[in-house]
Amino acid sequence: KIDIADLYRKSGTLEGKTVTVCGWVRTIRDSKALGFIDLNDGSGFKGVQIVFEDGKIGNYKEVARLNVGTAVSVTGTVVLTPQAKQPLEIHAAELCVEGASTPDYPLQKKRHSLEYLRTVAHLRPRTNTFSAAFRIRSAAAYAIHTFFQERGFVYVHTPLITGSDAEGAGEMFTVTAFDLDRLPRRENGAVDFSKDFFGGHTSLTVSGQLEAECMAMAFGKVYTFGPTFRAERSYTQRHAAEFWMIEPEVAFADLDDNMALAQDMIRSVIRAVMEKCPDDLAFCNQFIDKGLLDRLNHVANSDFARVTYSDAIEILKKENGRFDYQVEWGSDLQTEHERYLTEQVFKKPVFVTDYPKEIKAFYMRLNDDGKTVAAVDLLVPGIGEIIGGSQREERLDVLERRLRETGMNEDAYRWYLDLRRYGGAKHSGYGLGFERLVMYLTGISNIRDVIPFPRTTGSAEF
Ligand code: 4AD
Ligand code: MG
Repeated sequence: KIDIADLYRKSGTLEGKTVTVCGWVRTIRDSKALGFIDLNDGSGFKGVQIVFEDGKIGNYKEVARLNVGTAVSVTGTVVLTPQAKQPLEIHAAELCVEGASTPDYPLQKKRHSLEYLRTVAHLRPRTNTFSAAFRIRSAAAYAIHTFFQERGFVYVHTPLITGSDAEGAGEMFTVTAFDLDRLPRRENGAVDFSKDFFGGHTSLTVSGQLEAECMAMAFGKVYTFGPTFRAERSYTQRHAAEFWMIEPEVAFADLDDNMALAQDMIRSVIRAVMEKCPDDLAFCNQFIDKGLLDRLNHVANSDFARVTYSDAIEILKKENGRFDYQVEWGSDLQTEHERYLTEQVFKKPVFVTDYPKEIKAFYMRLNDDGKTVAAVDLLVPGIGEIIGGSQREERLDVLERRLRETGMNEDAYRWYLDLRRYGGAKHSGYGLGFERLVMYLTGISNIRDVIPFPRTTGSAEF
């Protein structure tokens, strides 16, 4: 038995050999005594053509009647076909139906809309677009681990259930092990979570950063790669309620080191995916985003731009006429502003640094101007923000003040403050939204189409 991807890789040595391949029928056609199947097993983008002939296989009539979607295993001879579109085919000697499919199979041989395919998320990995997207997703995940492992980072696992809000933005999903109706209520009617499973209010994590900081203060260089959850009510193409994040955290590193690491990582992941998934990317380039390969090639080989938030605001203010939301110093950047900066002004990925402290999280290091923090967002064409990061506030007194200013419960962050009490050091890190990276790598414009089973506001089917 051999994967179809290996069949192509080793085609030179396989001529005339007998092999077995297993997969799902993408298309099937027959005329009287000769038929053809395009068989795909997901090991690579390309399927293989199976030729079946009456007399050469014992069950010709049964096979000729098969529906698209059927699972089969085929044993036959490899025949090289250098003059044809595909370099080889398999002439079946035995074709075994592993699992039949019915004529109402939801993926017929025509182009289905992405909206329709979202309604059959359990089957859509068998289409060209989604098999390409999810193979690229897999290759990108592997490339990220490789990147950090080769540089001596320790992969740390941070908890998904947590008692603290890492972003201080109040966008957390509550976790409870009891029937809400049976939990005791306080006098004001609020549920008394102190009687809950954990004996306190717990949520799904929005970021592993604060725990990653603890680990960085022991290992120096660490990264997380795991799911995170946000109860944002954003009906956009780039927000999901459950998404994966990569969060490196580095001790003794400042904001410049942080940007250098982010640029290095993005470029090295692009190169790795281009090497590992050329067929998948070629498909995306042809059918999803015509400029994709040129763009990725360019980004993999050039430096990203840099601009401070204050300078970015000066640029944007002159263009306020074209935006739905007008900006001034102090405004949070909306997707339209982010995309204008990266698509029209810089025409490549751009790091925006030093945002006003009011629009960023409490843990970011206060700059000497007392107004801005050492924050950095990476914006890319077509999407906007894909990375958010910062140098962290390592000064205990400043951090305590920031916690108070932002109205956070200091008690819940005792352990976090301890990091500044016992051998604190300057340190920096960032979070890369993995789905947004996959969107960037494939040209796919909706986050629902780069994660197998998307969870977004109002929808968590399957
Ligand atoms: O900018 P964010 O909120 O930063 C943090 O969570 C920091 N604690 C990271 C760190 O410094 N360790 O989120 C980081 C990235 C964003 O740039 C975006 O790419 C992605 O996570 N992201 C989302 N992706 C999909 N759906 C959502 N709802 C997302 N929210 C953030
Ligand atoms: Mg952000």
